[in-house]
Amino acid sequence: MPITIHPLAPHLGAEIRGLDLAQPLSDQDFETVRQAFYDHGLIVVRDHPFGDDDHIRFSQRFGELKRLKFDAYLGERRPEIFVVSNIKKDDQYIGAHDAGMFWHSDGPFLDQPHGPSALHALEVPEQDGRALGNTEFTNTAAAYDALSPEMKRRIEGMQAVNSLARRFELAQREGVQGTSAARQASGEVLAAVHPVARVHPVTGRKCLYVSDGYTTEIVGMPQDEAKALIKELTDHVVKPDFRYTHAWRVHDLVMWDNCATQHKATFDYKLPQRRLMHRTTLEG
Ligand code: SIN
Repeated sequence: MPITIHPLAPHLGAEIRGLDLAQPLSDQDFETVRQAFYDHGLIVVRDHPFGDDDHIRFSQRFGELKRLKFDAYLGERRPEIFVVSNIKKDDQYIGAHDAGMFWHSDGPFLDQPHGPSALHALEVPEQDGRALGNTEFTNTAAAYDALSPEMKRRIEGMQAVNSLARRFELAQREGVQGTSAARQASGEVLAAVHPVARVHPVTGRKCLYVSDGYTTEIVGMPQDEAKALIKELTDHVVKPDFRYTHAWRVHDLVMWDNCATQHKATFDYKLPQRRLMHRTTLEG
């Protein structure tokens, strides 16, 4: 069956049909998939069951896998997998249950932020036949393009600080005792400076690289002014026009670009409704 590409929303996402991740992928088909990924910022593959080994093999076609430093929730059999889940075993979460509480991309607090991430749904909560625990995505390149010429001039050359401290602050404010609290307790407060309009390393498009979940300061700007500008930009980047919402089915794989998109999970379920996701993350 040939691989076909089906856009999901005006500015973001494409479903790849005819792709079975459990089967080998020819170089030619991979090139079609890779092109779709960079054209649309996010790809969805569904309808064929697959396992961790297939997930890892497919992810590695895009580059080198990242071994996450925070290792509390790495897969037991394949540590390349990061587990996201609300399921508990012996009263302990088996995965990060608070991943994606705030709009963010993965790893902006690192000097070399993450490349693509790929999330595989193994258990999806539902109610009355409707999936819960959707993930929302937004296209940061489309958001940059839609800025006024004045705002584009204003942020040209501007640098922002992206820090885990912001995530700790938000988690505390929401009273979340999760991965953020564990990381904070471990004394790990990472921060990195990146351009507000970051040039995408593959497509060359400018992406609005500030997020509610991680951006704390604008370099060289008084904090009151910086806070107002960060708020204006982070409100803009998540406007509905730039978004795609993914309603999960078991064995969906969603791979997103961590420069051209941001994401946020929806916490509209709780045990005994179970959610289990496996994520791979690539080096930037
Ligand atoms: C993540 O932020 O990596 C997880 C998103 C999700 O669980 O929907």
